[in-house]
Amino acid sequence: EETKSWKKLINISVSGAAGMISNHLLFKLASGEVFGPNQPIALKLLGSERSIQALEGVAMELEDSLFPLLREVSIGINPYEVFQDAEWALLIGAKPRGPGMERAGLLDINGQIFAEQGKALNAVASHNVKVIVVGNPCNTNALICMKNAPNIPAKNFHALTRLDENRAKCQLALKAGVFYDQVSNMTIWGNHSTTQVPDFLNARIKGLPVKEVIKDHKWLEEEFTEKVQKRGGVLIQKWGRSSAASTAVSIVDAIKSLITPTPEGDWFSSGVYTNGNPYGIAEDIVFSIPCRSKGDGDYELVKEVIFDDYLLKRIRKTEAELLAEKRCVAHLTGEGVAFCD
Ligand code: LMR
Repeated sequence: EETKSWKKLINISVSGAAGMISNHLLFKLASGEVFGPNQPIALKLLGSERSIQALEGVAMELEDSLFPLLREVSIGINPYEVFQDAEWALLIGAKPRGPGMERAGLLDINGQIFAEQGKALNAVASHNVKVIVVGNPCNTNALICMKNAPNIPAKNFHALTRLDENRAKCQLALKAGVFYDQVSNMTIWGNHSTTQVPDFLNARIKGLPVKEVIKDHKWLEEEFTEKVQKRGGVLIQKWGRSSAASTAVSIVDAIKSLITPTPEGDWFSSGVYTNGNPYGIAEDIVFSIPCRSKGDGDYELVKEVIFDDYLLKRIRKTEAELLAEKRCVAHLTGEGVAFCD
């Protein structure tokens, strides 16, 4: 492989590294499937006191796999060490919800973690670090993290809604009897919660508006929407734990969408900071929006979307939920006294 020209090593920090999602994700990162075959990586893994033994096991397995691109594996429980010079921070570690819980039920427990990790990123990570928050409730955790990291551009923070986008594409493809790759322009608006809005108005199947292909509009408004909104919860009921493999896949998709140019005419969804958004969505929250990237790690918001009454009504509802979550974590964003509904 003399012709291979290696890129400069990048540092990827992963929290919750001893958990189920990471156990799928880390091996994908190490294999080159995410950042490409010429990109050497260092994995810096964050665990907790409780998980440090398991994390040592994870590191051993990564080393024993002899991945040619994996140049360094380090582990620790101090984010100020593990996030040092991170160019990507994949924040997975958090208490997951159990059967019957809503994701917002985790606000208090997990918010603290993301405040601390935001401070650590601010202090020691690369100043252009890209942060993907997976731990729930991920939108508000991303907001907390961002507010505690004032030296990192706000637009670098993402909340993972790609899993919802993938779920929505799958359901539309099944209903229309096409392969999922025929479904494009799929937006998830808002919160990664049961108020999220899978947008069948702007999505396309074989390049046509979904409503022209799927004539049963009642199915779209009711069954489809609810199925996507509740997919995570139903999965928890089945497995007794939250989704791990498909979440890892969607993290890979989310990263790839930022480092490869978005195909002409298409877009992807990500939970991003709303300041300056062109849709009239409340500012200063993290809201899932259609995005496009040139492949440089950055993105822009897609303006060519349409709205109807149904879509707007649903967007207002998920927006209200995020504003309420934000009020409930004011003590963690440096904005005063928390007020939870
Ligand atoms: C999911 O969507 O599967 C995850 O966010 C886990 C959960 O709480 O639903």
